[in-house]
Amino acid sequence: MAADPRVQDILDRALADIAGARSTSALEQVRVRVLGRAGELTALLRGLGKVPPADRPQVGQEANEAKGHIEAALAARQEALKTEEHRQTLAARHVDLTLPGRAPAPGAMHPIIRVQDEIISIFEGLGFSVAEGPEVESDYYNFAALNFPDDHPARDMQDTFHISADTVLRTHTSPVQIRAMKAQGPPVRIICPGKVFRHDITDATHSPMFHQVEGLAVDRHITMADLKGTLDLFAREMFGPRSRVRFRPSFFPFTEPSAEVDVLCFKCGGEGCRFCKQSGWIEILGSGMVHPNVLRNVGYDPEEVTGWAFGMGVERVAILKYEIDDIRLFFENDMRFLSQFISSSPLPLGREAG
Ligand code: DAH
Repeated sequence: MAADPRVQDILDRALADIAGARSTSALEQVRVRVLGRAGELTALLRGLGKVPPADRPQVGQEANEAKGHIEAALAARQEALKTEEHRQTLAARHVDLTLPGRAPAPGAMHPIIRVQDEIISIFEGLGFSVAEGPEVESDYYNFAALNFPDDHPARDMQDTFHISADTVLRTHTSPVQIRAMKAQGPPVRIICPGKVFRHDITDATHSPMFHQVEGLAVDRHITMADLKGTLDLFAREMFGPRSRVRFRPSFFPFTEPSAEVDVLCFKCGGEGCRFCKQSGWIEILGSGMVHPNVLRNVGYDPEEVTGWAFGMGVERVAILKYEIDDIRLFFENDMRFLSQFISSSPLPLGREAG
């Protein structure tokens, strides 16, 4: 206990305020108030001269001791507050380095383009090359050159969007056959992907725009057996090694004979189910031997060369391959649907078996 009550009072208040200071700036205020140039203790020490000489040494010593205590308390509190403030700053800026990063969403290939590319690459592997033609086509290429007679009911097979009396949105990719054969002589081996248009009411299985891939092979000695072998190989590449194809007689003006080709239903493996309407088979394309009139129309000699052709619906193949039950899903651009095609889906008739 200091003999001088003023020293004790300054010391008590200073130590209490130091202990109660919540920040380094609050602490600095205490220091200035007590030890600053005009501080309480500084003033007291300066005024020592007015203390009676007898008390002067003791008051002076007590005041200096009090100053020492206060300085020590300030330093200790300063240290503690700095550590705490530093901790708080770090906590506020906290970065969790273990948190996984947010990857940008990768784009996905549209399932139709994906399937189309896969069809193309299977045929490219067999020596076919890609040919393309216009979507706005003349009546001649879309119909006449393909042996559809004027006013023949065969034209009704395809509900056509007309741009003018003799210009249409192509109803199939077959006109590319004509363009390619006119542009080059035999032999021809081409694969022609593209959009086609038909005046259909949209529902789960119809869309006014869809995609086809046309195939054409013309050379000496080409037979129907080549067509069957090629499509059989295609089906196994596309749908898996246990896939099979079957041919049914059909009619197209530009082929003779003509066949519709089915693949074994991937859902039931041929047993018959709702998906294949109990038949065990699903139609994927039309095909046949190129009609001699078509060969003549492009200046080829049907006595010299023969050929086969097919036209395949890409949506149909994609629907089978990915087990999709509504064609409209392909064109609604719903990201929840499209983003499923970021990585390839397993094949329905398992390639693993082969
Ligand atoms: N163009 C036909 C259609 O759209 C499909 C087709 C059938 C194409 C037989 C062909 C073919 O090349 O030979 O229905």
